[in-house]
Amino acid sequence: MPLPKAELHLHIEGTLEPELAFALAVRNGVELPYADTDALRAAYRFEDLQSFLDLYYELMTVLRTEQDFEDLANAYLARAAAQGVRHAEIFFDPQAHLARGVGMGTVVEGLWRALGKSEQNHGVSTQLILCFLRDESAESALGTLRAAEPYLDRITGVGLDSAEVGHPPAKFRRVYEAAAALGLRRVAHAGEEGPPEYIAEALDVLGVERIDHGLRCLEDPALVERLVRERVPLTLCPLSNVRLRTVDTLADHPLPAMLDAGLLCTVNSDDPAYFGGYAGDNFDAVRDTLGLTEERLRELARNSFLASFLEHDEERRAR
Ligand code: HPA
Ligand code: ZN
Repeated sequence: MPLPKAELHLHIEGTLEPELAFALAVRNGVELPYADTDALRAAYRFEDLQSFLDLYYELMTVLRTEQDFEDLANAYLARAAAQGVRHAEIFFDPQAHLARGVGMGTVVEGLWRALGKSEQNHGVSTQLILCFLRDESAESALGTLRAAEPYLDRITGVGLDSAEVGHPPAKFRRVYEAAAALGLRRVAHAGEEGPPEYIAEALDVLGVERIDHGLRCLEDPALVERLVRERVPLTLCPLSNVRLRTVDTLADHPLPAMLDAGLLCTVNSDDPAYFGGYAGDNFDAVRDTLGLTEERLRELARNSFLASFLEHDEERRAR
């Protein structure tokens, strides 16, 4: 029985497995520049975040209809459930779809067709987090939030993803203020490739409740002390870090040191179709390669529920 856990850092578009991508390409008459699934998989050799994002945005062009988004989400939920995920807070990237003429309603309602039945069908409760693409303009982010307003009963919070360096959190101050005014929860990617200053800025300027990745906090001891003191959850993604070369090898991953430092770490899959594993695979990998004890693994699973938007709301608001 895999350890019950919550997944808090998961891009639904990053769960698009090659087999489903080809099936949707055929269904929608989209040409993919790869001969077959093996040729596509062979392209999954990334130098950095941008080289991954190029393929990620290319492949998601097969997603066009509500049915496509429903099928994508159901495939993820089935795999996640099999690996012990009981609750998933799921990112989606509407700007990448709106830019291709796929409307907000198609994306949200399509995902909801799977998410709304996920507890019955998969035993997984879910929440949706709308991410702004940080390499797009602040105005585009504001327009995206406006486009999402009719669907806010389906959306728990907002996040910030895509190419980090050169796009500091403060660029999105206004849209995060607007999101907060609408009662949305706030998270942001920070300190994946970007500097530790982006982590502090996400907390101070955007008012986020969790940091996605946050690995580079280790370069600033005072920041680590703050994250420990304020119990700021970090949604780490070990296999992603290896594939995007944020760490040299999994054996070099600082997760054990981060736990020892008292940081509130969680383990997640990020883009599992691209990075070699789902949530349980990430847990197995850190257990096997970093020698984490069963007690440490249970701590990570406990942290995932603590850091979720499901529980301990009172405690977190009082922070
Ligand atoms: N980092 C930033 N943006 C992303 C990622 C990631 O790992 N995955 C999908 N969009
Ligand atoms: Zn991510």
